Amino acid sequence: MAKISAGVATSHVPAIGAAVDLGKTQEDYWAPLFAGYEFSKEWIAKEKPDVIFLVYNDHASAFDMKFVPTFAIGCGEKFGIADEGWGPRPVPEVVGHPDLAWHISQSVIQEDFDLTIINEMEVDHGLTVPLTLMFGQPEAWPCLVIPFAVNVVLYPPPSGMRCYRLGQAIRRAVETFDDDLNVQIWGTGGMSHQLQGPRAGLINKEFDADFLERIVNDPESLAAMPHVEYMRNAGAEGIELVMWFIMRGALDKKVNELHRFYHVPASNTAVGHLILENGK
Ligand code: DHB
Ligand code: FE
Repeated sequence: MAKISAGVATSHVPAIGAAVDLGKTQEDYWAPLFAGYEFSKEWIAKEKPDVIFLVYNDHASAFDMKFVPTFAIGCGEKFGIADEGWGPRPVPEVVGHPDLAWHISQSVIQEDFDLTIINEMEVDHGLTVPLTLMFGQPEAWPCLVIPFAVNVVLYPPPSGMRCYRLGQAIRRAVETFDDDLNVQIWGTGGMSHQLQGPRAGLINKEFDADFLERIVNDPESLAAMPHVEYMRNAGAEGIELVMWFIMRGALDKKVNELHRFYHVPASNTAVGHLILENGK
């Protein structure tokens, strides 16, 4: 049977992708950030996941105001790289796992979570920057990826608790898939950041430290936090953090924390990163 072996959380700041693509990772500004992912790259090279269920948000690249799905699962064979204004990033296309994606859709939709099924779309920095941080610059991504897009761009986004429960349902779905697959689930976005208005540049280290601690050790109480508290304390774009609960809900109540990293700043954003292992 398929199994979720681990969860990864990471911010997805687009400037990180540009730093890699333009060969700037050793510059003084960027080196401390990339140092925080050295452990992660070694770890994932040994783990060799077959599939990553990658929870991310689209930033008006695949979807625009014409339609905004709350939860959208990529069931296609492959997904191209979106042009976000500077040409598509020079990274490999993303190859999906349609059979597993359809199985998960079948299972969680029948558990009353409404997913939008996407057979064709392009993926943006929300998905490609986490892959770059974990795998560097390979010719092809070393595993299959199921893109799972969450609306955190247009109000109302889903609550942290709904995301947490959806993660639990995704775990049940994965564990009833017949093939022996090593599946990882990633939650991306965050941490505190605000990109526009008078509070642009807001970063809240205390909020972020508390969030990192509680998503590992007390996720259910943290999942109950209302949207307004993210807005107030973590900035308008801090709401991206609800996506981490889909990852966390798919893991054991008690997890083994393998790695925690926090760094400020990367562009306008506080970067947070966790690797959590399910009991074996
Ligand atoms: C930045 C961060 C994001 O999460 C994003 O989607 C776009 C920009 C930034 O800090 O520049
Ligand atoms: Fe973002």
